[in-house]
Amino acid sequence: MTDKQNKDKNKQNPSIDRRDFLQGLAATPVLGLFGAALIHEQSVKKKLTKAKPKVVPENLEPLNIAVIGSGAQGQVLIDAMLKLPGLHFKAVCDIWTEYNLKRAAGILKRYGHPVNRYIDYRDMLVREQDLDAVVIASPDFWHADHAVACLEAGLHVYCEKEMSNTLEGAHRMVMASRKAGKLLQIGHQRRSNPRYLHCYDKLIREAKLLGRMTSVNGQWNRAVQPDLGWPEKYAIQPDILRKYGFDSMHQFRNWRWFKNLGGGPIVDLGSHQIDIYNWFLKARPKSVLASGGTDYYDPAAHEWYDTVLAIYEYETPAGTVRAFYQTLTSNSSEGYFENFLGDEGTLHISESSNRGGVYREPNAPQWDEWVRLGYLSAPEKAGTQATSAVLDVRETIAPDRHDIPIVFTDPYHMPHLENFFNTVRGLDTLNCPAETGYETAVTVLKVNEAVKAGKQLAFSEQDFLI
Ligand SMILES: NC(=O)c1ccc[n+]([C@@H]2O[C@H](COP(=O)([O-])OP(=O)(O)OC[C@H]3O[C@@H](n4cnc5c(N)ncnc54)[C@H](O)[C@@H]3O)[C@@H](O)[C@H]2O)c1
Repeated sequence: MTDKQNKDKNKQNPSIDRRDFLQGLAATPVLGLFGAALIHEQSVKKKLTKAKPKVVPENLEPLNIAVIGSGAQGQVLIDAMLKLPGLHFKAVCDIWTEYNLKRAAGILKRYGHPVNRYIDYRDMLVREQDLDAVVIASPDFWHADHAVACLEAGLHVYCEKEMSNTLEGAHRMVMASRKAGKLLQIGHQRRSNPRYLHCYDKLIREAKLLGRMTSVNGQWNRAVQPDLGWPEKYAIQPDILRKYGFDSMHQFRNWRWFKNLGGGPIVDLGSHQIDIYNWFLKARPKSVLASGGTDYYDPAAHEWYDTVLAIYEYETPAGTVRAFYQTLTSNSSEGYFENFLGDEGTLHISESSNRGGVYREPNAPQWDEWVRLGYLSAPEKAGTQATSAVLDVRETIAPDRHDIPIVFTDPYHMPHLENFFNTVRGLDTLNCPAETGYETAVTVLKVNEAVKAGKQLAFSEQDFLI
């Protein structure tokens, strides 16, 4: 089922206001309670809904596409795109011609897509005259130039996060998209993940299971990793490296750690999850306080902070929400996840392997009806074995744990790419358009400023204006 069809289907589901339902239950005490108990018994068997199967519309409009940047992520996106119908790869552009470009072109050829190879994107845009869209997975500091040139050439663009390493770059991208009247999707792929969509649309917005949200916390903790290397015989010539903004092969491979090229771990990893804070809270932060430093790695080769702890304050219609986020690169404890905490429940969610759960606060109204409707799986009582890899937080959060009843087994990026291509075809709307990506960039890039300033920084309305 496509995202579009999913959304249409969701629209058709009758929306039940949680308080209406509870009032109804209170009005029929005997039958209501017995009924609820019966429902509870019957629903002990978990209802897990597969996000599939997909229905591929007939006569799907074929699209000609190119990829700029076929490194680690470019190849992940190519793998996901090869699973989508109706795409014709025409060209790949990458400055590492003898390694990443060759490898990506070889894979595409094996799958029936002989592509033209380019080292320079300008050359590609002049020569490739029948493209519809370009997928960009170059290092962050190239995103603005690459995306703007593609948009000005009349092409739709899917650009990886972080939208840009500078707000000036991100701003240029939004303006170019508006001026050209072409689509620009930013690669915050959780926005198209069926599990995240279910949590936002159904659990938070419709069922309001968390009650009044008061706090968020999340993290991406990653184990120590050596710097990235390269096979000596494939080293790029220094003049080519310099032409494309790199001082050395070390910097070319480890661009994330360098100021002016990337934004460090808080931007690289944190942007995915802080984007979800803004989305699920339906708000922009009003301030951020952060502490960080290059505490573990050699600062000469790692200019950005390897450790960052940040606290945002959001003002929502329901009240203040304080949101903590940390990224560590010297310890992988508990990996990556986001927790949304309200006075009636907690949502624990992660992109990682269907990890997640929803926990009812002891004082919250019962959730039986939501279970019956399939919004949640039946509860596992405290002390029972969880079926998916989750943190054992039941004792400290809430007694019962419910699974999020959507199993998602496709490659993580596939629905987001599908959402982009279907929007190009006029069948959908973007889940992360340029303006949304810009808001996330404003939110995340400010953390590095707050670390440097050593104090809480306020966001103004002006900061988010384009
Ligand atoms: N959405 C996600 O989950 C996710 C995951 C990883 C990376 N990313 C993003 O993807 C992008 C690429 O990251 P990566 O890990 O693949 O990096 P990488 O260094 O492995 O790959 C970058 C590629 O771009 C090429 N390149 C560099 N400058 C170029 C230029 N001017 N023109 C054409 N090609 C150029 C390099 O040769 C390399 O092949 C980054 O923006 C990163 O933040 C997103």
